[in-house]
Amino acid sequence: MSDVEKITGKCALRGEVLLPGDKSISHRAAILLCLSDGQAKVRNFSQSEDVWSTVAVLQALGGQFERAGNGIIVRGFGARGPVQPNAPLDAQNSGTTMRLVAGVLAGWPIKTRLIGDESLQQRPMKRIIEPLSSMGAVISGTQKGTAPLEIQGGNLSAIEWQLPVASAQVKSCIMLAGLRARGRTIVTESPVSRDHTERMMKYLGINLDEKYNDNRHTVALEGFQRLQPHDISVPGDFSSAAFLISCALLCEGSLIKIKNVGVNPTRTGFFKILKSMGARVELENKREVCGEPVSDIVARYSKLKAITVGREQIPSLIDEIPALAVLATQAIGTTRITGAGELRVKESDRLKTITVELTKMGAKIEELQDGLVIEGPVSLKGATVSSQSDHRIAMALAVAGLIADGETIIEKPECVSISFPNFFDTLSFFKK
Ligand code: S3P
Repeated sequence: MSDVEKITGKCALRGEVLLPGDKSISHRAAILLCLSDGQAKVRNFSQSEDVWSTVAVLQALGGQFERAGNGIIVRGFGARGPVQPNAPLDAQNSGTTMRLVAGVLAGWPIKTRLIGDESLQQRPMKRIIEPLSSMGAVISGTQKGTAPLEIQGGNLSAIEWQLPVASAQVKSCIMLAGLRARGRTIVTESPVSRDHTERMMKYLGINLDEKYNDNRHTVALEGFQRLQPHDISVPGDFSSAAFLISCALLCEGSLIKIKNVGVNPTRTGFFKILKSMGARVELENKREVCGEPVSDIVARYSKLKAITVGREQIPSLIDEIPALAVLATQAIGTTRITGAGELRVKESDRLKTITVELTKMGAKIEELQDGLVIEGPVSLKGATVSSQSDHRIAMALAVAGLIADGETIIEKPECVSISFPNFFDTLSFFKK
């Protein structure tokens, strides 16, 4: 890939594609199968760099992985536990790797150091340091509560924990540690965050109790249950699909179908919001695969109206807000997104980066402390913009570039590989 990506647009997108496996589900498949005794296959494994960061870390801990077509075969370390690695474990850019693997490491009597790239080493880790310390792990970060993390694990006791911010990564971290803790670990969150860990643990034979009450969710599990190594088929990544859907909605004459996409309701808040905006998007051929809802998604060019999004909806569309911001520039009226302060601690400060970059293209977008206000419709103009090394900002800017007048030059486009390595090729395929 060259060091900039040039986008010119104003043409219809048409066609049908299958996307690589969901990133969140693939992380969990790699981790949970490593904790099982035996061998299992993961089909349609994510091709994202983040997931390969998880695989590399698990390999250093004694997990075995072999590529097989578009999948992998995993041989877990299971009850033997991870081996003592002889170097720091590098989660690179991946918050999910660092937070979930920390939950695993907390349960075993080894000493490890978890490091990451510049962006990951600025992200908040107190949210996992506190619960894991309460369970009995010896874990420390920097004074600011960031990585590198030093972990001496083993001898955990269960806790009851209320998440101060809804986060599937933190919830999953505590659940993974709970698998090695004496007693019953109970985690409560509100609003509900993505539940892939819960679904996959159940699919692999773990007994979980879950209660839902008014967008409040409690999950409880007893320690020292064994995971069974079952094969897993991973659906296409909804968060990758969201960018393609956005392109289709905005480009006149478009009609696309994305087959076999994960449509877990804790992930598809974006789809519901699109419907309220008047988008012509449909789910076809709904089914369940390995405990996850899956569907084909059809999206057509649509006239959109503005929308209000609040705190309760945010976890279900947390990764789709950069795409939604671009859609809002073309929707009639004022779109208001609030309760989204978590976006400031993602791979970049996404409230700031999307505001700065879309403003360069002529968008009327204002940054709030915990959200965005966007006026539409506005004619965007091509400009030189930067992903600021954030994959979802790069893809959102490509969507904007497709409807802008003239050429848009995206600097640092290669970061799309973090979640969707073939993003630009897939866009060109649809534009043919
Ligand atoms: C993820 C959870 C979300 C999401 C991230 C992946 C996961 O983060 O933003 O891209 O796989 O658990 P939080 O749980 O921290 O909100």
